Amino acid sequence: MTTPEIRAAYLKFFADRGHAVIPRALLVPYNDATTLFTGSGMQPLLPYLLGQEHSAGTRLVDSQACFRAEDIDEVGDNRHTTFFEMLGNWSLGEYFKAEQLPWFFEFLTSVVGLEPAKLYVTAFMGDPKNNIARDEEAAEIWTKLFDAKGIKAEIGVIGAEEHGYKRGMKAGERIFYYDAKKNWWSRAGIPENMPAGEPGGPDSEVFYRFDDSEHTDDEKKQWGELCHPNCDCGRFMEIGNSVFMQYIKRDDGGFDELPQRNVDFGGGLERIAAAANGDGDVFRISLLWPIIEQLEDLSGTAYNQNSAAMRIIADHLRAAVFLATDGVAPSNTQQGYVLRRLVRRAIRQALSLDLKEDFLETIIPTITELYRDDFPEVASREQIVIEVLVAEERKFRRTLEKGIKEFDKVVGAKLTGEAVFKLSDTYGFPAELTVEEAKDRDIKLDDNWKADLDKLMTAQKERSRSATAGQFKGGLVDHSEMSTMYHTATHLMYQALRDVLGQHVVQRGSNITPERLRFDFSHDAKVTPEQIAEVERIVNEQINNDLVVSFKEYPTKVAIGEMGAIGQFGDRYDETVKVYRMQGKDAAQPFSFEICGGPHVDHASKLAEGGKTFKIIKEESSSSGVRRIKAILQ
Ligand code: ALA
Repeated sequence: MTTPEIRAAYLKFFADRGHAVIPRALLVPYNDATTLFTGSGMQPLLPYLLGQEHSAGTRLVDSQACFRAEDIDEVGDNRHTTFFEMLGNWSLGEYFKAEQLPWFFEFLTSVVGLEPAKLYVTAFMGDPKNNIARDEEAAEIWTKLFDAKGIKAEIGVIGAEEHGYKRGMKAGERIFYYDAKKNWWSRAGIPENMPAGEPGGPDSEVFYRFDDSEHTDDEKKQWGELCHPNCDCGRFMEIGNSVFMQYIKRDDGGFDELPQRNVDFGGGLERIAAAANGDGDVFRISLLWPIIEQLEDLSGTAYNQNSAAMRIIADHLRAAVFLATDGVAPSNTQQGYVLRRLVRRAIRQALSLDLKEDFLETIIPTITELYRDDFPEVASREQIVIEVLVAEERKFRRTLEKGIKEFDKVVGAKLTGEAVFKLSDTYGFPAELTVEEAKDRDIKLDDNWKADLDKLMTAQKERSRSATAGQFKGGLVDHSEMSTMYHTATHLMYQALRDVLGQHVVQRGSNITPERLRFDFSHDAKVTPEQIAEVERIVNEQINNDLVVSFKEYPTKVAIGEMGAIGQFGDRYDETVKVYRMQGKDAAQPFSFEICGGPHVDHASKLAEGGKTFKIIKEESSSSGVRRIKAILQ
């Protein structure tokens, strides 16, 4: 099976079992200030795992595009990627272990065709401190499933991190108990690290064994006496995790049962495909290999001689394509900074392959080709993605040229931390390249260069932090009465834009003076005159409804989670936030509910005083995928 075929088969398998297939969420979480990126399939579904009703029902399945920036430095080996698809199926308070584990086993063995003898599984060994029992139910289900395939699966206890998981697996063992570090899942990790209100639970993972024979003496020598599924020696790879999400952390640190017992399953599509290939190198699956082949062509070198560099380029550019598809543009902050870093790291690796020419325009269509049928947004945004990423490539090459020119002026007989900092800070020339350049030119490195560089970098960070702290909150240049009115009008317009154009509209910037409001937001196309007229109509209607404006502080998690307050793209918030509510006197729901520091008028009708109406006077492009509107009250 090709990788897209595995994805399609998984969705169908669970659709056939009563699951609604839901579309993926964007890589940039909407209104989740706790994280910059969607890193797991459950993240966008959190409110539903906590009990909110999902419009598609209680059984859901999808393939969620995920991005994990924290893995960026691991990329280069045969299994790490920053971008991946997580196949996910969920039971929202419905089926549980007795359905989930047999279904996943059936999918792997009967649909994908993995040999049952190559599968090894784990379960939670229990946590007496938190009064959570050993998951004997899961172990029993697994015993029966293997038994039905004629495999006698013995149970082993590998145990806890405290003793370093220092017990190797024994011949015949196939089901293993581990502590919370390995077999408990929450967004925050182990029970002790979970904040109050966070859901989590024990989980059961499936591992694929890549070598051919079972536990012979020869293999013991090869893998070592202490090898076990979770040991990271490369023999096993985790291909799926069923989380039994049934607990929620209390304020006092203990755990309550959630009102509903959920299943949260996540399995890496690329890894399942690697298992199906019988090759532990995920870059050889059909969704990555064509990128590698093209890199071989472009550079005239072979994958097996340059695997780390080619893996980094393939992973980073695939991630960059998806981030750009989802509206991220390279910049120096937040998601944009990560995207910039991905593109620049890919180009640096290309330089190491002697690929010195621009190559993004050639390689991006190879990536989009792999996804265009299954993710139509990749096809429809292709041109803009190429534009955005190629512009960044050109920019970086100019930076590199300039840096090389300045190198001689800045670097003396020895390379100091100060020189590395200057080239990076003033000319954007990456520190690693300065060091490489120095080595190429046989220039010695000063003994303290690294420590000196770190000091200068830290001081620089401190300076920029103080600078942003002084910026005006809420985009207001002053707190005059007129600015305050424009601020309230901005909230009304933001909601109206979302109502008219869609939920992809997210604030990307705001600037308010006593003369006008200016608002940037994500949207791909020109806003048509009809849409502008509709937005104006809605805002004026809400002004005339005389919405009451009030605010309240909420814990951030609650505001952006269950309550669904909107905010600004990529903003990070404190523990609690102020949320402004603009609501009609008799309305059941607020019209606008937005995280904001204020100030605002207390009644929307103030905006209409003196016969004023709200009018959009300009609509234009601000940067790729971002529109800018200016509006006035006149
Ligand atoms: N939420 C679980 C994970 O990300 C399935 O591994």
